[in-house]
Amino acid sequence: MNKFTVTTPIYYVNDKPHIGHLYSTIAADVLARYHASKGEDVLFSTGTDENSQKTVEAAEKAEKDTKKYADETAKIWQDVFKKFDFTNTNFVRTTSPEHKKAVYALLETIQENNQDDIYQGEYVGFYCVGCETFIPEKDLVDGKCPDHNTEPEEIKEKNYFFKLSKYRKQLLDHYKENPEFLQPESARNKMLHYIEHEMEDVSISRQSKKWGIRFPKDEEHAIYVWFDAVINYLTATGYPDDKEKFEKFWPADLHIIGKDIIKFHGAMWPAMLMSANIPLPERIFAHGFFTIDDQKISKSLSNAIDPIELLKEYPRDAIRYFLLREIPFGNDGDFSQERLLERYNSDLANGLGNLVSRTLNMIEQFWPDFEGSKTVPKAVQHKADHAESVIDSLSFDITLKQIWEIIAWADGLIEKTKPWELAKEGKEKEVEEILEQLFSALATINEQIAPFLPDTHETLTKLLNERPIKKPKDPLFMRK
Ligand code: ME8
Repeated sequence: MNKFTVTTPIYYVNDKPHIGHLYSTIAADVLARYHASKGEDVLFSTGTDENSQKTVEAAEKAEKDTKKYADETAKIWQDVFKKFDFTNTNFVRTTSPEHKKAVYALLETIQENNQDDIYQGEYVGFYCVGCETFIPEKDLVDGKCPDHNTEPEEIKEKNYFFKLSKYRKQLLDHYKENPEFLQPESARNKMLHYIEHEMEDVSISRQSKKWGIRFPKDEEHAIYVWFDAVINYLTATGYPDDKEKFEKFWPADLHIIGKDIIKFHGAMWPAMLMSANIPLPERIFAHGFFTIDDQKISKSLSNAIDPIELLKEYPRDAIRYFLLREIPFGNDGDFSQERLLERYNSDLANGLGNLVSRTLNMIEQFWPDFEGSKTVPKAVQHKADHAESVIDSLSFDITLKQIWEIIAWADGLIEKTKPWELAKEGKEKEVEEILEQLFSALATINEQIAPFLPDTHETLTKLLNERPIKKPKDPLFMRK
């Protein structure tokens, strides 16, 4: 049986999820559901990144013990993901014993394979806790981190380093031989430039006694949070103990990430795997940002939109639909409640919802002993094939557009033929032919929307399987 392994970033627990985090997770969920529907064995992993200095600071602010704070916040993330009914098979917490084991196993393997890849040195630099990374002085704007608008801490300390620069050629070769390794093209080009011209060895420990996974045989140091975080992808696939699971699910088919974290995934992570002699993930896709007034939606910029608040007004399918339909997956785009409402009304309520009501209503009236359609009209099949052909390229907006073209086709058929007038004229055969086509279009749409709109798919499946066919009691999309 084929397998499909898809991951999202693991999210910091210094706050609750906002709509940007949902975006990555919804995309992974759509793919997980899609591949499962094809009979593949799916591993879909997400989780929380907890060993960060941010966790310590957030806990202090909340006047809570750090571990207790991390436990409580990780639970909030899990609860939100449950409310959205995500089909993740794994939720990795980086404070878990399984994860710690994977981190130690990988470090040990790196040291066994390539003794000099980890060495001690001194680091002097500017550290941004918001990014959890050192920022080159040239990238600071007025002495501040450009992403967080905060002054970084100047740090001088003895650290352990990973010899990332040693992997420059190997990484460039891998990019050359695997043009799809990192997508979209803009992300790939950025990384190629970074690897070729800027990439230096990375510090992989911090002097800290308080929080984080201890560096092996050195209690004074915590493992650098990014070095530990990327290893979650191995933890999820059973590394190091569950060899059978690991062999089945690793390498990951796809890491979905946001474009803010390309460097860690496109350079450090593959180099770590090269050093440990573990196969690289097949593909990494860096999607764009949802913005508000052209500013990234972000916890630190205080413009975060709470998905749970949105759920009070919209069904979860509407939120899934809007996020994936509104902007191409690799681009940035503005999130606006007006656009969400517009799309909800036009595409869902008046588009799909209306077509379902009209079609089932006509069948109920004009063909009570209807049993089902046997053939799919060519035009419908053609659009459905096109929709499906672009899922793999993660062009979710195009897939949805194509599905909605089937809706437009069906609406057009109704408008053109006016079956109620044909019925009045006693043209029974013609009416039945049209209704058969419409029903078949609905069945095709229902199949295609399944990974995107799972709740709607469930309701529509019941309606289409009912005999005799009845018009739905409630419209398919109702505002709460
Ligand atoms: O970076 N639009 O975690 P994080 C779209 N722990 N996506 C967004 C977004 C926005 N406005 N804001 C956030 C971390 N995201 C690390 C990751 S992985 C080994 C460690 C999404 O909580 C996007 O996927 O800051 C981004 O990469 C991720 O959330 C960052 O989440």
